[in-house]
Amino acid sequence: MKVNGNNYRTVWLEGNSVFFIEQNLLPFRFRIQEAKSFSDSCHAIRTMMVRGAGAIGAIAGFAMAQAAMEAPVSGYATFIDQARRVIESTRPTARNLFYAVDKVHSCAMVSRSKAIEEAQRIADQDAADSLEIGEYGNSLIHDGMTIETHCNAGWLAFVDYGTALSPIYLAHQQGKKIFVYADETRPRSQGARLTAWELKQAGIPHTIIPDNAGAWLMSLGKIDMMIVGADRIAANGDTANKIGTLEKAIAAREYGVPFYIAAPTSTFDIDCLDGQHIPIEERSEEEVLYQDGITNDGRHEKILVCSPGSPAFNPAFDVTPAKFITGIITEKGIVKPSAEIIRRLF
Ligand code: MRU
Repeated sequence: MKVNGNNYRTVWLEGNSVFFIEQNLLPFRFRIQEAKSFSDSCHAIRTMMVRGAGAIGAIAGFAMAQAAMEAPVSGYATFIDQARRVIESTRPTARNLFYAVDKVHSCAMVSRSKAIEEAQRIADQDAADSLEIGEYGNSLIHDGMTIETHCNAGWLAFVDYGTALSPIYLAHQQGKKIFVYADETRPRSQGARLTAWELKQAGIPHTIIPDNAGAWLMSLGKIDMMIVGADRIAANGDTANKIGTLEKAIAAREYGVPFYIAAPTSTFDIDCLDGQHIPIEERSEEEVLYQDGITNDGRHEKILVCSPGSPAFNPAFDVTPAKFITGIITEKGIVKPSAEIIRRLF
């Protein structure tokens, strides 16, 4: 996607280094960062400099390829296996990370060049899938619609285009008049910071709403459709996505608002029977207790926004049962969230 007139992907491989957009600085600063080694790439995932299911998958694949480049000739396989475990320990929920690591690991066991080729193929596939998702999702969007989204499943969360936002970009490009409500998405505010920034760059009319405003807007008939992304989809269609998604899905059902998940098939975990088996990441309480931002004179500051000394609980994802999901927009078409239909995708 274009930033300041230049085309960017969120993450890419050049020689032995991975380059990526540092997402923790957005929307205040736009900076490209370099990860020179596989452990630098792991650090970028852990600290959420790179975040979002598809982008994490791509950098994890590149990290595995970097490990293949770094591995000594003697002890090559042991090094690769250890690197795989380190990469897989960075974040537990997003399926794409494990999907990419598994595929690049198999290729690394054949040769370094195969590992690099496969990591690049996965990143390219992620961008291509997002574009297809845009085409299918756009068929659901009519002129004049108001769409709500949660967290950031835009191009920053993938290699390019995004999932939940990809249909919105296409609808806008085709001249459909649409309006987007972006849920703030506490505690890290990916909606207020990243989705809003993306929409602004693309010139799409939007407004940020507090996380607790969605149900009220739906009750007033102000939301025509909700589209969100996914971090892992179980074999029966139960879907893990950013914390707060479940509440929106329940409200959408109550008020008759179609609730769509947009995700590539690389996000499906068909070995995971249902949502109860999806590992849910718990993150530091600091993310709830503190907020960071820019002061009027341009300083980046972090401040305590809760009662001093009170603890906080910070689950990063929740699971929306399939029964609340109208459909899943994939690169292969829009499917109902049922085990039988999902099986046919693979
Ligand atoms: O914790 P994050 O920011 O990596 O969260 C992942 C997500 O971006 C969201 O859950 C998103 O809605 C899923 S689609 C990438």
